[in-house]
Amino acid sequence: KTKVYYFEDIKEEVLDEAAAVIRQGGTVIFPTETVYGLGANALDEKSVSRIFEAKGRPSDNPLIVHISNYDMLLYCIGEPLSEKAQKLIAHFWPGPLTIIFKKSKAIPDEVTAGLDTVAIRMPDDPIALKLIDKSGVPIAAPSANISGKPSPTAPEHVIKDMEGKVDIILCSKDTRVGVESTVIDITGDIPTILRPGGATLEELKKVLGEVQIDKGILDPGTIPKSPGMKYTHYAPKAPMTIVRGDYNMVMEKILELAGKDKERGLKVGILTVDENINYYNGFVTLSMGSKEDTAEAAHNLFNTLREFDKLMVDIIYAEAVSEEHLGLAVMNRMKKAAGFNIIEV
Ligand code: TXA
Ligand code: MG
Repeated sequence: KTKVYYFEDIKEEVLDEAAAVIRQGGTVIFPTETVYGLGANALDEKSVSRIFEAKGRPSDNPLIVHISNYDMLLYCIGEPLSEKAQKLIAHFWPGPLTIIFKKSKAIPDEVTAGLDTVAIRMPDDPIALKLIDKSGVPIAAPSANISGKPSPTAPEHVIKDMEGKVDIILCSKDTRVGVESTVIDITGDIPTILRPGGATLEELKKVLGEVQIDKGILDPGTIPKSPGMKYTHYAPKAPMTIVRGDYNMVMEKILELAGKDKERGLKVGILTVDENINYYNGFVTLSMGSKEDTAEAAHNLFNTLREFDKLMVDIIYAEAVSEEHLGLAVMNRMKKAAGFNIIEV
């Protein structure tokens, strides 16, 4: 039922076919620079309902609208472009930044879960941009994973989760960024990050000056503003515990806990970095890359979580990473994957 096209086969005709499917109300999975998206015509509520069906996603979680040009942006928003928006767009688009605007009447309630705002981004991927262009409509798209699973960053992730549930899958390479876009709300006085992602806090501050992080992201006790942040997300099958602190203490603690679990007969997975991986002899270890490179960690994180599923570990310990640059998004996803189960050492 699902037509799967691989990178080599994605010529103009295939993009024309996929665009026709979007216009006719169908669903197309396409690559972006962050993660794969599960798209449908953002202007049509029936099309949009197919996205929620395919993902098993609660319909009170609003979708991001993907555009390929400025006319589309203006068509979707119900306000003049603010100075802040113009700065952000000039600096970050196409790219991993989603901006919240007042919505126009063209955007149905199904896309925004009844909110009067709409989340919009221009993805930095030639296949995505061509697909949107050829469709002639903005494309609503969440990450193309089954709801609750790690977002898909490789063709095999998408095929595993979504084959049989959508009309077309356009496979490209592994996605470049590896975590989802940053969601920023600029409707208030101080620009607020609702979800950390591919555009970093440091970069955003350079462009806007003051930028704050929504409390819901930092403290699991408060109610998050970005509705998507309240669901269990990104979770591998095995329960995961993050150990945070000085690396030496972290490694010692993980070895201690993992050793005990192993004695109890459990298969233990450890999520670590290149510099530390040899420390954990006798356990199932996966590295996110060098501890100096937060972009590498972002690129690898979701794949490592899915690898632990394949390796069928019973329990996972993860070293906390630095929250600088892309590390903020990486730790946010790790915390969610661990259900905020963190040991401080
Ligand atoms: O990188 C990405 O953003 C990927 C690719 C496919 O573009 N998409 C993605 O979509 O991650 P999704 O649906 O998994 O996450 C959308 C996020 C959720 O946290 C949602 O709550 C938030 O954006 N969001 C959407 N509309 C919103 C709105 N009007 N106000 C506040 N948050 C909104
Ligand atoms: Mg998602």
